[in-house]
Amino acid sequence: MPTPNLSASRLPASDSDSAAVGVQLDQLSKSFGRFEVLKDVSFAVEPGEIFVLMGPSGSGKSVLLKHLVGLEFPTAGRVTVAGRDASSPHTREEVRMALVFQAGALFNSMSVYDNLALYPREHRIASEAGIREKVMRALQILSLENAVRKMPSELSGGMKKRVAIARALVMEPQLMLYDEPTSELDPVMSATITEIIATLKEQYHVTTIVVSHDRDLALGIADRVGILMGGRLVSLGPPAALRTPSDPRVADFLNPKIDLRNPRFRQLES
Ligand SMILES: Nc1ncnc2c1ncn2[C@@H]1O[C@H](COP(=O)(O)OP(=O)(O)OP(=O)(O)O)[C@@H](O)[C@H]1O
Ligand SMILES: [Mg+2]
Repeated sequence: MPTPNLSASRLPASDSDSAAVGVQLDQLSKSFGRFEVLKDVSFAVEPGEIFVLMGPSGSGKSVLLKHLVGLEFPTAGRVTVAGRDASSPHTREEVRMALVFQAGALFNSMSVYDNLALYPREHRIASEAGIREKVMRALQILSLENAVRKMPSELSGGMKKRVAIARALVMEPQLMLYDEPTSELDPVMSATITEIIATLKEQYHVTTIVVSHDRDLALGIADRVGILMGGRLVSLGPPAALRTPSDPRVADFLNPKIDLRNPRFRQLES
């Protein structure tokens, strides 16, 4: 069973660079045409916090994450990272952020090594020898040394998730964003990935935002949990509040009852 091999080595980062950063959303709204996906969403994530964002499919979680890394831009409101406007390209030069995408987003034509080396090569962060050291250290941390020469098509789902996390780690991020890191994994591998996320945060004090449907992950490692429904933040609080949700919509989301007399699929909008 892979466990994060964090005692072996630390990712180097200078004291000034390694400072965790805070995130602030102020009345963020986002529309695609006439379709309003995010509605007046405000919350802050403290430096060094693990914040878990839950919510039904289509509620706008991935769209929200993309605003933090400048892949989407607000229709109204503001998103700041370390006090800087997240929609400005300068912010991404000044603050190191890494997004572990929902589907991994590995480049299928490149080996695991080349996937991890891509960012430092493009940004000329180090010599090829220095890059090799960073890549091998990240792979070691995630117990992936034996996968270094493999192609993504040769990896299991759990390995792909770990390679995607290792690739993010090579960036030595101050802000780590995960989109559904445990989806499509068996319960043990989900627990493993959850432990990795918490251990990386502990070791590097990296501010961490996890988008997930995984209640065990939220209960296990979150400092706070936000719930997004229909583009609105309907709940924000400690993970223990998930055990006794007061809002019936949240209760139904967390503990859905199967009702074949009144099935949900008949109520879906196209
Ligand atoms: N670029 C886009 N153009 C138009 N609509 C979009 C775009 N990106 C997302 N949407 C829509 O925004 C809504 C929210 O999408 P999003 O991907 O954020 O959902 P989600 O909460 O991450 O869902 P899931 O849990 O299934 O991943 C969806 O209805 C989606 O179709
Ligand atoms: Mg999503």
